[in-house]
Amino acid sequence: MVSVVKINVLTVPADMRAELEQRFSKRAGMVESADGFEWFELLRPVEGTERYLVYTRWRSEEDFQNWQQGQAFQRGHAQAAQGHGHGQGPAATGSEVWSFEVAESAGPKG
Ligand code: HEM
Repeated sequence: MVSVVKINVLTVPADMRAELEQRFSKRAGMVESADGFEWFELLRPVEGTERYLVYTRWRSEEDFQNWQQGQAFQRGHAQAAQGHGHGQGPAATGSEVWSFEVAESAGPKG
């Protein structure tokens, strides 16, 4: 079985970046317990793009699908769905999902 990488690509207006990051800092923290979950990172754009990447890696496509269709995903997106504090509704104006299979990988030795 090969791991899969699912990246949610978020278009975030400049004046909503702080709000988006704050929502992630208060995220539900449920994805960590999802079956087959391997990694998550929120990547803040520095150069070459203005879009944020929500990087996730999973043991299999099926594990990702199960998480996305389950309650943990809904609860993990409560703020994005309803809005919170300043500015109701989602902080992002657009999103698209990129899918990859891990073809090669490495970590530091030792
Ligand atoms: C309409 C599309 C989406 C938008 C606008 C969006 C935005 C957000 C926001 C603002 C949060 C912060 C927490 C909260 O909202 O309560 C969040 C959490 C998260 N999002 Fe998304 N998201 C979307 C879809 C996805 C997809 C398809 C993935 C998978 C690649 C993903 C991965 C995650 C993860 C892993 C978390 C953390 C959940 C946790 O802590 O349990 N999101 N998202």
